[in-house]
Amino acid sequence: MEDNWLVYVNGEMVPMKEAKISVFDRGFQYGDGVFEGLRVYGGKIFKLREHTDRLFRSARAINIQMPITKDEFSAAVKRVVRENQFQDAHIKPQVTRGIAWKLGLDPRNTTAPNIVIPGRPIGKSMFEPDKGFKLAAVSVRKIPAMCFDPRIKSLNYLANIMARMEAQASGADEAIMLDIYGDVAEGSADNIFIVKSGELYTPSVQDALEGITRSTVIELAGRKNIRVHETKLTLYDVYTADEIFVTGSGAGIVAVTEVDKRVVSGGKIGALTKTISGAYDEESQKGESAYE
Ligand SMILES: Cc1ncc(COP(=O)(O)O)c(C=O)c1O
Repeated sequence: MEDNWLVYVNGEMVPMKEAKISVFDRGFQYGDGVFEGLRVYGGKIFKLREHTDRLFRSARAINIQMPITKDEFSAAVKRVVRENQFQDAHIKPQVTRGIAWKLGLDPRNTTAPNIVIPGRPIGKSMFEPDKGFKLAAVSVRKIPAMCFDPRIKSLNYLANIMARMEAQASGADEAIMLDIYGDVAEGSADNIFIVKSGELYTPSVQDALEGITRSTVIELAGRKNIRVHETKLTLYDVYTADEIFVTGSGAGIVAVTEVDKRVVSGGKIGALTKTISGAYDEESQKGESAYE
């Protein structure tokens, strides 16, 4: 099965190399669709309900009528995990408006939505969490909510990709994207937390994705009586933080060891980051089994 995992394509399980969607699909033509990214830890799907709810909200916000129910969708995700015998994996469901048989933007000239659910095995993180991340603030700004609501997890990630490329060009691993006013919004594929005097600070979701890992961190911090402030943050706040970490389903919790060439917490993973990361590792074992 290796290298030819089964992909869910509109209700069928199809070997990866044969899983295909038309070149006329609007996801391909316009980025007209939405997606999710979920993690599986030890055969258990983490936060399946939260990801399902967010996907359905994203679809509704762009007026895609989901052709299956939430229960059917969750069952499809479990099926992908089970039929591939995944233990530690990343699942990336994508929903497009469908195929545009007529030329033009008009979303009415479209077939039923396409749903594909590919997955692949990965370890603890898409990155090397023990190595730590280098961040760089980039010139690409977060698209403001008045133009496109960041809560919609749209298939068009070009601004984020440009941000990541700019960060990588300066030798960093990940970007800090600012909002149009110059305040910190988020990373290109993760939310940002800083630590100051034993308390956590993270930008509000006004101009950032409402990350499920972010919410989990806020909940875990609450259980440990660590105060969390959802507030405006500037680059000054980030540069002078005691610790910094980023959060995302694929990334998990990744400590930041450098920001715009300033060494953070002595280049090591800070104590509070370790506490949160440990609590997150424990929590991530509590997903919904795909095998029951
Ligand atoms: C732009 C952006 N911000 C934040 C996140 C983290 O969200 P979550 O924790 O729900 O995976 C992601 C994840 O894909 C993202 O793409």
